[in-house]
Amino acid sequence: MLSLAIRDLEVSFPGLERPALAIPDLSLAPGERIAVTGPSGCGKTTFINIVTGLERVRRGRVSWQDTDLAALSEAGRDRWRAKNVGLVMQDFHLFPGLSAIDNVLLPKRLAAFRLAAGMAGEAERLLKRVGIERLDQPVETMSRGQMQRVAVARALVGKPSVVVADEPTASLDADSGAAVADLLLELAEAAGVTLIVASHERRLVDRLERVLRMESGRIVSDAPQARASRVPVPA
Ligand SMILES: Nc1ncnc2c1ncn2[C@@H]1O[C@H](COP(=O)(O)OP(=O)(O)O)[C@@H](O)[C@H]1O
Ligand SMILES: [Mg+2]
Repeated sequence: MLSLAIRDLEVSFPGLERPALAIPDLSLAPGERIAVTGPSGCGKTTFINIVTGLERVRRGRVSWQDTDLAALSEAGRDRWRAKNVGLVMQDFHLFPGLSAIDNVLLPKRLAAFRLAAGMAGEAERLLKRVGIERLDQPVETMSRGQMQRVAVARALVGKPSVVVADEPTASLDADSGAAVADLLLELAEAAGVTLIVASHERRLVDRLERVLRMESGRIVSDAPQARASRVPVPA
């Protein structure tokens, strides 16, 4: 669980007249669960890329607890992300040719010389939890909904402090999207992680406790919302 503080952030891309993202002041408490929403092109992915350190901070400050991302090199940000962040992307970013369980463990294998004790067991438990029974099934033979559930398990393995999802349900049909949303919210809450979900899908956004609405790279509203009732996920 980490807090996030953003001050005077501006992200510009060549060819754009205005910054793609401009956030004067934003704070998240540890364990807070928020949605970032708004129309296509409003800056959601840019926000995700900045707070996860995928994109470099050139103007302003982005700090997770005591870590100022702007002060880290790209390799330093990669190390920080591997240790602290679980990521779920719109189009899964799974590695074809590898099994479900090897996909869940791959980032941990890449980040460390050897897997920490218990990591394989944790990966197995998480995959079962998200409803993947065949741990050795190659991911390219899975349905899109199954692939995203593998990606949710991968984001949670190793007990990250922060889970970040960019349009996690956008490429799924309504039923698989709902299942993935249930699992993501349920597991994030159980783990107590700080959760950031970028989405333009109302049925997902409505279920988070705080909603940032963006337009043209600006936060135009930031409001708490009562939590909608949820369909329980079978254990
Ligand atoms: N690498 C880039 N180079 C130039 N413009 C970019 C780049 N990435 C994003 N943009 C522009 O920044 C704006 C915000 O994009 P993005 O963050 O992807 O929005 P969203 O995820 O809300 O659809 C858009 O105008 C987009 O075209
Ligand atoms: Mg996007």
